[in-house]
Amino acid sequence: MQSKITQYTSEIETFEPKSAEELETYRIKFLGTKGIIKDLFDEFKAVSPEEKRILGKVLNQFKQLAEAKFNDNKDKFIGESISKEAGEDLTLPGEGFEIGGRHPLSLVRKEIVEIFKRLGFVVAEGPEIEDDWHNFSALNFPEEHPARDMQDTFFVAPIPGENVDTEKKGEYALRTHTSSVQVRLMEAGKPPFRALMPGRVYRNEAISARAHCFFHQVEGLYVDENVSFADLKQTLYYFVQELYGEGTKVRFRPSYFPFTEPSAEMDISCTICGGSGCQMCKQSGWVEILGCGMIDPNVLDNVNIDSKKYTGFAFGMGIERITNLKYQIKDLRLFSENDVRFLKQFQTEVV
Ligand code: PHE
Repeated sequence: MQSKITQYTSEIETFEPKSAEELETYRIKFLGTKGIIKDLFDEFKAVSPEEKRILGKVLNQFKQLAEAKFNDNKDKFIGESISKEAGEDLTLPGEGFEIGGRHPLSLVRKEIVEIFKRLGFVVAEGPEIEDDWHNFSALNFPEEHPARDMQDTFFVAPIPGENVDTEKKGEYALRTHTSSVQVRLMEAGKPPFRALMPGRVYRNEAISARAHCFFHQVEGLYVDENVSFADLKQTLYYFVQELYGEGTKVRFRPSYFPFTEPSAEMDISCTICGGSGCQMCKQSGWVEILGCGMIDPNVLDNVNIDSKKYTGFAFGMGIERITNLKYQIKDLRLFSENDVRFLKQFQTEVV
């Protein structure tokens, strides 16, 4: 046993590993669970007590030597095995990677939300699959209103087996506007309400440069005592100055929505030509950006809010439209095709 140890000692002392593999072979040979040191300790158990006294010390020293050799070398090859696999020099600088950018619609939505947050509006959301009550009936749409037609609305079949209260809620559809979220919000709480409701909406339209079967809206709702049309005008005026810059003009044209009375559409002076007339504003100097009005008392009654005590206003705008006026994107389809050449142009505004 003594002679074996002497022989292995000189083998270890002269061992200079040149690669991670060589060191691993060494480790298995000497320090492994079936290695030489384990064998020597097994052998040691059988020797006579006198020999044990001398050999014990020698054997322990030998073990320490073998371990020290391994520990002294183990850090040498750490990077090496990886860099061999990758076939490159790990000290070179990395390749770098591209950071994704925000979608232009997300950027503009965020901007709109930030402006109204400064006026104390909170953000609320609702489902995209909506029942007839929230999308139409509660909003004062008469039974025969054309918006309820298959040509405008995507109806969806209820989930089989689901207990649907069709008596009260009617058929299910993909929401055609975010006004449905107003109803949900008012049903669930008590005035005052001051909320902004962004979301995706769906309409049964053929896809073209100017129309799409889905797009995005931001709805606004303000209900309290003594809310007037002047509040509506001032709120939207502030919004336009913040979004398109001071001096942007606004005008309100009378309009009609079943859920607001009076109703209006708001135009702003054309952001492209400043009002002198161009292709974007069809030479009129004005572009429409949203619909709005005072909430019809019937709607408040439908959601159990006292229409004698409370009044409110609502507005709704298309995010695609607002984005077009900011970035002059001529074809709506670009927003949903995910062409990186288009999306990359907005990457500087990563937030
Ligand atoms: N929901 C209307 C639309 O989709 C917009 C609107 C919202 C009008 C709120 C008035 C008040 O066209």
